[in-house]
Amino acid sequence: MMINMEDQQNYDRKSELRSFDETKTGVKGLVDSGITTVPCIFILPSSEDQNSGKKPSQELSLPTIDLDGINKDPIRRKEVIDKVKDALESWGFFQIVNHGIHDSILEEMKKGVRGFFEQDSEVLKQCYTRDSSGKHKLVYNSNFDLYVAPVTNWRDTFYCLMAPNPPQPHQLPSPCRDILIKYSKEVMNLGVCLFELISEALGLSPNHLVEIGCAEGLAILGHYYPSCPQPELAIGTYKHTDNNFITVLLQDHVGGLQVFHQNHWIDVPPNPQVLVVNAGDLLQLISNDKFVSAQHKVLANKVGPRVSVASFFTTGKLQSLNVYEPIKELISEENPAKYRSTTVEEYGNYFVSKGLDGTSALLHFKI
Ligand code: OGA
Ligand code: NI
Repeated sequence: MMINMEDQQNYDRKSELRSFDETKTGVKGLVDSGITTVPCIFILPSSEDQNSGKKPSQELSLPTIDLDGINKDPIRRKEVIDKVKDALESWGFFQIVNHGIHDSILEEMKKGVRGFFEQDSEVLKQCYTRDSSGKHKLVYNSNFDLYVAPVTNWRDTFYCLMAPNPPQPHQLPSPCRDILIKYSKEVMNLGVCLFELISEALGLSPNHLVEIGCAEGLAILGHYYPSCPQPELAIGTYKHTDNNFITVLLQDHVGGLQVFHQNHWIDVPPNPQVLVVNAGDLLQLISNDKFVSAQHKVLANKVGPRVSVASFFTTGKLQSLNVYEPIKELISEENPAKYRSTTVEEYGNYFVSKGLDGTSALLHFKI
């Protein structure tokens, strides 16, 4: 029997993925074991993802929006709404300062994530699972899409649904227990405030997005990107868009996050006081493409570990009666609905089944 080359490679890849998964210690486990080269499951297929087209005429940088005064001064609020609108139309991303979450809470949250991954490996292993049915309140593994994605990311992650139905403290691991609860409350308040601004930026009443349930669910993802011995061969997080309404991202000082804008990958330089906000696919869907869910990725780095905390406004796998479709007020005869209706659960299941393969899950929902 002839074994074709591709099958042979796929076979090898599958068994290597399985043995990597079975270590239950993720990428950090590989690095701790002293590897000095990147194993083949992590090797990027080509030097794709280079910037394309000519250089932008001016240095592009992600818009920064100062939220100071938005609840006191209607003029400031209007200015901020206009900036949010411009940023979500053109970048799908912006960064915020004076967001109301104290620096010490941001620091503690990053420390908590680092503490989780740097627990004794035998203790950590006990949280390693691919069962996302809700049985485990905190799901830790390496690459949620390990067996379907074309390339394995140099990253380990935990996922925890903090709203609705927050976990009991004892269901959370001790290194990040208290801060996860505290940080989630702060991010939820900030999220509501952002959805109010985004509703107004869409020309809707301020409560619209909260009323249709965009702030009902909050999943916190703690990412750990170990130092990579050959960063040019691997990727921290492959290019993707987020499968939620919005993400509020907290990153540490290492850097490596890039956003795709005007055919270029633009760095999002770290700043300890800043939070990065981006529109996810579900916001693009309900806004009927007015706001874009932009591609982004994280480069692998010799410097590490890098820690980031992504707060996803989504109910994840929870069953819900909420159905999402392009908002009636935003469509017309000249601008008909571009997407069919779906649920957060259906969207998420499709996204996960496809994995981060460089294509958009939104295409599947296009009319
Ligand atoms: C994500 C993501 C970026 C980062 O969680 O979807 O893009 O900096 N994270 O970890
Ligand atoms: Ni993302």
